[in-house]
Amino acid sequence: MATSGGNGPSEPEHPAGNPAAEANPPAGGGPAAAPDAAIMRRVTGGAAITALGGLLFGYDTGVVSGALLFLRTQFGGLSNFQLELVTSLLLVGAMAGALAAGRLSGRIGRKPTIMITAVVFVLGVLLAAVTPTYPVLLIARFVIGLAVGSSSMVVPLYIGEIAPPRFRGGLVSLNQLAITIGILISYLVDYGLSSSGDWRLMFGLAAIPAVLLFGGILTQRESPYWLIERGRDDEARSVLARLRPSGEVGREVAEIREVISQGRAGLREVLSRTVRPALAVGVLMAVFQQMTGINTVIYYAPSLLHDAGLGQSSALLANAGIGAVNVAMTIVAVRLLDRAGRRPLLIRGSAGMAVGMSAAALAFAGGTHLTGARAAVAIAALVVYTGSFAIGLGPVFWLMISEIYPQRVRGTAMGVASLANWAANFLVTISFLTLLSAIGGTGVFSLFAVLTLVAIWFFVRRVPETKGRSLQAIEADLRRSQLLERPGEPPGQRPDGPVGHAA
Ligand code: BGC
Repeated sequence: MATSGGNGPSEPEHPAGNPAAEANPPAGGGPAAAPDAAIMRRVTGGAAITALGGLLFGYDTGVVSGALLFLRTQFGGLSNFQLELVTSLLLVGAMAGALAAGRLSGRIGRKPTIMITAVVFVLGVLLAAVTPTYPVLLIARFVIGLAVGSSSMVVPLYIGEIAPPRFRGGLVSLNQLAITIGILISYLVDYGLSSSGDWRLMFGLAAIPAVLLFGGILTQRESPYWLIERGRDDEARSVLARLRPSGEVGREVAEIREVISQGRAGLREVLSRTVRPALAVGVLMAVFQQMTGINTVIYYAPSLLHDAGLGQSSALLANAGIGAVNVAMTIVAVRLLDRAGRRPLLIRGSAGMAVGMSAAALAFAGGTHLTGARAAVAIAALVVYTGSFAIGLGPVFWLMISEIYPQRVRGTAMGVASLANWAANFLVTISFLTLLSAIGGTGVFSLFAVLTLVAIWFFVRRVPETKGRSLQAIEADLRRSQLLERPGEPPGQRPDGPVGHAA
């Protein structure tokens, strides 16, 4: 049976898997005390520092669009395929990085994983900046990819675990905000350095946020979830004492312990019948996030608009505009996620994406050369599409995968979902230009519009509302709804609607 996800901020959370406690909220389990300003400063500060990993993710994926223009004439002249390799090897590295970080963060902890990620970022971007040869540049891009992939899973994981439930949506989505800011900064850096053509500096500048991430994370404490899982309850208690009102610490430790007592698991259990349904939700959201076309806009908008007849500076300006809308709408999402909930933003945002892609398809219908009104419609369509992604599917995917997995497999399962995201990104990125020349702008954008409709159907049916609920309560809900099954239990009735569907 689907349970109500309408827990307002002031309603008590239910300890996971404890029906008795659900009927009788625990002592001290009344309305949660509002965290005071010092607590919010610590939590927000920790989330913002960690989100530097998201900024690096955005910068390193965005910067290559401008750098490519100048790399073409380097190393004795590079072919299109050699340039594509520079772009896509980062995505291959990211797949490996996401999976490795999923396991590493479970084994050595979230904080050391983030520290290693920062070191790998520094090494990768410096290697790219000083590279003497083309093959070394490829190695550097792969190394940067390892760090990008790692950061894409460990940042939302860590922030999700330090955030109080009622602010978790906005705090975890600081990561997505940082990604979009990183993309925008990379566009501006590319634009600023375009007269000198200094692609080495374009790559190398990312060392600054990477060093800041390393220094910043040193000031943070390990995730209380991971500590309790390791039996280090006293340390977890002292971490939680800094992050929660004092009345909530004991209850949260008990809830986490209860969930952990159901056993620990490795990669095998992530793929087991018990966890597979939740894993499928994360993996399919990952695939839909990429297959609906976002990075054809983020990586290729300037080339697309330039090829369609816009001057280079108009194309770059339009691109910066798209980047700015991406940031602005993500700010709106950060503010709304914990109020409106995840599902309304996800579903309405995706509807906006379908409208944007359909309008783009129409703009290209009269031929590939865009002039006057059709150019304006194409740019407006891409802006509507990107803004709608930014308010829904962009942040909600990374947030959801930090919320819907059982504690004992969370790190590994998030690694698998991130891996799926990078793999789908890779497929779309390497096939887009070929597809474009085969079926044209109208064909490609119509395809994305149709895939977005399929995605909406899936979101409506399967994605749970998680607003304001503790991670333990979400897990208990998913278990009751059989989206997660208890080990050894026969599969039961599936709910008609999504788990925790907000009324
Ligand atoms: C996606 C990236 C994309 C970015 C755009 C992220 O959520 O995972 O692939 O480039 O949003 O803002």
